[in-house]
Amino acid sequence: MASVEIQNVRKAYGDFETIKGVSVEVPDGAFVVLVGPSGCGKSTLLRMIAGLEEITGGTIRIDGRVINDVEPKNRDIAMVFQNYALYPHMTIAENMSFSLRLAKASKEEIATRVADAARILGLGDYLQRYPKQLSGGQRQRVAMGRAIVRNPKVFLFDEPLSNLDAKLRVQMRAELKDIHARFKTTTVYVTHDQIEAMTMADRIVVMRDGIVEQIGSPLDLYDRPVNTFVASFIGSPSMNFLSARIGEDRKSVVTENGIRLPVGSEALLASGAAVSYGIRPEHLTIAPNGDGIPVVVTNIEPTGSETFVQGMVDGQKISAQLRERLVVKTGELLNLTLAPANSHLFDAASGVRLS
Ligand SMILES: Nc1ncnc2c1ncn2[C@@H]1O[C@H](COP(=O)(O)OP(=O)(O)O)[C@@H](O)[C@H]1O
Ligand SMILES: [Mg+2]
Repeated sequence: MASVEIQNVRKAYGDFETIKGVSVEVPDGAFVVLVGPSGCGKSTLLRMIAGLEEITGGTIRIDGRVINDVEPKNRDIAMVFQNYALYPHMTIAENMSFSLRLAKASKEEIATRVADAARILGLGDYLQRYPKQLSGGQRQRVAMGRAIVRNPKVFLFDEPLSNLDAKLRVQMRAELKDIHARFKTTTVYVTHDQIEAMTMADRIVVMRDGIVEQIGSPLDLYDRPVNTFVASFIGSPSMNFLSARIGEDRKSVVTENGIRLPVGSEALLASGAAVSYGIRPEHLTIAPNGDGIPVVVTNIEPTGSETFVQGMVDGQKISAQLRERLVVKTGELLNLTLAPANSHLFDAASGVRLS
């Protein structure tokens, strides 16, 4: 096991800077997830840790040692990609043991390590088969098995579940977590899927356009996103944002036509300041006595377990995920409310968190 320290790392392709000074600490044994929209630089950063991409500036340390110029094969890292290419002409056992054979490990050691990895991954019955005789999920497990047998200091995963169907993805998510719980191998995991990040990470790094927007535990990011980008990226369905101004009492905000929205703590801005008021759809509930936020229903989707409502409040879109079954029709008025502590306030212009 090992810690990984990324300090002010930059990457430029020609004139274009893709990674603009990123710092991330991955403690020994942690499971850190890099998440962000496609093109934000996740794979580039991971490839720099692996040594597959040169570093334009900054330093990367593994266990305190600068590895900027260390050959990939000497970094003691194993990487699993989205497009895990298995060797088609080799059996599963041969695929899994390939790197150990290259490293001239003994026959006994190879057999033990492959058998251990196969047991953990439920591949014991498939070791003598060929990749084409396995399902997509089993093949992805073989790709992980190849990484596990090497017993590396650090695992790097680049969207390893993206090619699997939804059900298998959920299952593999749990298996990967289980493997991490057993081996405690320091892991950096890349995904564009915030649910994967939320469910797997000890610590999440949210990236955008080559910079880090926020680092924190899943619930830190959910409860206290530092800006509207993180607020809308983390959580599903996405947070609602309503344009409003700080009220005269500075204890509520008011939309253009006077609808009052509750805030948790006294707002820091002067009354009249323009804000973006954030509410997660799951934090809205039916107001018990008819006051609350008046929402004109535009669409209603019962899923059985909950009701998803879309509507308009003072000309602005809002959505709510309600636990109750509703008898309400499109065009009707619904009064919704929320616990003030569940509201979020952001500066309207910069998107930076205020509350
Ligand atoms: N070899 C390369 N040459 C030039 N630009 C690249 C190269 N690799 C990646 N990029 C650019 O760097 C940015 C980040 O890419 P990438 O790290 O693959 O993003 P992500 O994995 O988050 O989707 C993108 O704009 C991409 O086009
Ligand atoms: Mg990528």
